Amino acid sequence: MKESTLLKQALRQVMSGQVPAAADPYRPGWHLAPAVGLLNDPNGFIQHNGRYHLFYQWNPLACAHGAKFWGHWSSADLLHWRHEPLALAPSEAFESHGCYSGSAVTDHGQLTLIYTGNVKYADGSRTAFQCLARQNAEGGFDKIGPVLDLPAGYSGHVRDPKVWRHNNHWYMVLGAQDLTLRGKVLLLRSEDLLSWHTLGEIAGSGLNGLGEFGYMWECPDLFRLADHDVLLCCPQGLPAEADHYLNTFQSGYFVGQLDHQSAHFPHGDFSELDLGFEFYAPQTTQTDDGRRLLIGWMGIPDGDEFYQPTVEQGWIHTMTCPRELTLVAGKIIQQPARELQQLRGTMQQWQGIAMDAPIWDITQAEVEIETDHPFSADFGSDLQLQWDGEWLRLTRNNRRSGLPEQRVWRGHLRHLSVLSDRSSIEIFINGGESVMSSRYFPALPARLTLKGDRQITLRHWSLADCV
Ligand code: FRU
Repeated sequence: MKESTLLKQALRQVMSGQVPAAADPYRPGWHLAPAVGLLNDPNGFIQHNGRYHLFYQWNPLACAHGAKFWGHWSSADLLHWRHEPLALAPSEAFESHGCYSGSAVTDHGQLTLIYTGNVKYADGSRTAFQCLARQNAEGGFDKIGPVLDLPAGYSGHVRDPKVWRHNNHWYMVLGAQDLTLRGKVLLLRSEDLLSWHTLGEIAGSGLNGLGEFGYMWECPDLFRLADHDVLLCCPQGLPAEADHYLNTFQSGYFVGQLDHQSAHFPHGDFSELDLGFEFYAPQTTQTDDGRRLLIGWMGIPDGDEFYQPTVEQGWIHTMTCPRELTLVAGKIIQQPARELQQLRGTMQQWQGIAMDAPIWDITQAEVEIETDHPFSADFGSDLQLQWDGEWLRLTRNNRRSGLPEQRVWRGHLRHLSVLSDRSSIEIFINGGESVMSSRYFPALPARLTLKGDRQITLRHWSLADCV
């Protein structure tokens, strides 16, 4: 389909759909969500000329996956975001089935996007091109076209370039599937972003002491944190274990040291980034003040997503809140970006036996709970959190089957910080050792009720609207 037809359809959808979508009571007050249609991966997260830019995988035409566009928001403060002109719409043969995920860099002062042109053929096969687009004076993007064809030795699943600058070279990590159907991450180098040289596979199924570990790795990201190199990636095809890998696809990281010459990346074990029901395809950027920020998609491919009630209002999915990353004892710690504290209203503090606690309005709120005693929390509708002294369990009913399902964390609980926003909840455990992110659809206003016969301390803030 030519760009003009697709664009006209997209415009019609936005014009007719944005009012009902904006009126949906489940629409977040302080998280990013699509005006209409489906949002998935965060793309091109960057601070450029002092302003944050966040692009996103977007199908404006339906609440379904399809030929993806790149939407574009920008913000001075990570709180108030404005829509920028549409960045990319699939219009060319090299991206006929979508402008898929990728990243952004500042090249000679110009905001430059590197993304995957996804191409599917009638016989079910596919190929992929890594493509470049540069920002023009109107704030839109001019497509330069493909800068890398499918590398030899890989299937058509090669995508999601993340590019960074190191020692006066450009480097790229790419998600890939080899011809034996194993997921890999490739490292490439370039002098000018236009021609790329493959250095090798830095990680993947069957590499670096890892056994079989998935048939495809999506959305890699590589960055330096506390004198280590961290590789984020999303392996597909890991079998579920009792307390791990419970979502359809996983999102996690390896910590190691990357040799940029030899593409050697000895690394430790895979750790999941988030243990909730909805989290995938995160991307990070480094801020001007040196922080590493992460935003993820609060969704999962191929879950019970299309049973979410917002579909009836013409939109689906949100981003997570922006999170600050640090590395402590080889593990990533995630904390809500400090800017979010500006959304807090007056603090209310309460101390006593859990079951004596008042009922709290958590429609848009932040709640801290301090205790190491067993207790349970009901967030309204069908979402509950239970701490039994060893396991923390988040339980809800699967929207497709109606059956209860659980996500779990095991450890010594001291502190919880729960951030809610009308239809989502992000639970930061022990100051961000682990996080559980989930969408949920409570009766509004959402209420938090506590149970338990031991002492807790609770702090509550309402959070203001900002998007
Ligand atoms: C991850 C992903 C990426 C791809 C994009 C398409 O969610 O499948 O691998 O580029 O979404 O929207």
